[in-house]
Amino acid sequence: MIASGSWAKASFKPYNFNSEGVLPPSGALHPLNKVREEFRQIFFSMGFTEMPTNQYVESGFWNFDTLFVPQQHPARDLQDTFFLKDPAVAKPPKDKEYWENTKAVHEGGAFGSIGYRYPWRGEESLRTVLRTHTTAVSAYMLKKLAADPKPTRLFSIDKVFRNEAVDATHLAEFHQVEGVIADYDVTLGDLIGFMEQFFEKMGVHGCRFKPTYNPYTEPSMEIFAWHQGLGKWVEIGNSGMFRPEMLEPMGLPKNMRVLGWGLSLERPTMIKYGVSNIRELLGHKVNLDFIESNPAARLDEDIF
Ligand code: PHE
Repeated sequence: MIASGSWAKASFKPYNFNSEGVLPPSGALHPLNKVREEFRQIFFSMGFTEMPTNQYVESGFWNFDTLFVPQQHPARDLQDTFFLKDPAVAKPPKDKEYWENTKAVHEGGAFGSIGYRYPWRGEESLRTVLRTHTTAVSAYMLKKLAADPKPTRLFSIDKVFRNEAVDATHLAEFHQVEGVIADYDVTLGDLIGFMEQFFEKMGVHGCRFKPTYNPYTEPSMEIFAWHQGLGKWVEIGNSGMFRPEMLEPMGLPKNMRVLGWGLSLERPTMIKYGVSNIRELLGHKVNLDFIESNPAARLDEDIF
């Protein structure tokens, strides 16, 4: 048009400088990843180190036995846990003394505990499972810590699997946010104080604590927060002080206490993004537009 000069007689549409234009195609972070990143920053700001959780398959030993979960506990049933067919058997831990200590503390009692008094089977502990909690990784890291015990703060946020009936709020897999603090002579008061500080950073003010039971912690506490939208107290986490039956067989010093807690990543994410059915958040029914158009997450005042 320039060469022939025809442009001079053509009429052109005026430029629209107010148009927003077409969005360039790009990837988008899933809301779970956005909330996960917020949690990571909270942990880093409190001096925690991230644990390596890139292994979904564990032996029953690390998922259950090290945590003083007896071999006939219902959590170890097919109805609750996914066992693997191939490979069906894992290797025992390298530290034979630890293996023997674990057997002793379950079977006949040891380290001042009367134990559960049942015949503990090595084969049962070597069955492979999809980990049912990230506490399997915490146990592994605490065992490593026993070689050079010093005050330590560790966290992880990753996937766990449970053989659950799927409904609006449950899937057979979810993410766990977990933290452990090992230190000399810490008490339940430290755990409560720390929980308040941690959840405060998530915008949860004034948690409540209720006694509960975990095979691997004593005392154990559920953590509740007031949910403004639902107008009631909702459970947001589980916590406790790891039992000596778990820590002493590892070789940790008697006065090194370990506090731990866990919560799901899905629940705060669902509250944050106003999702009431978990299948809208994860799985094949997820609307891609929901993933692409959600704002960044800030864990602040309005989460609960
Ligand atoms: N493993 C627990 C759960 O699955 C969470 C937890 C971690 C509790 C550490 C106490 C200590 O709910």
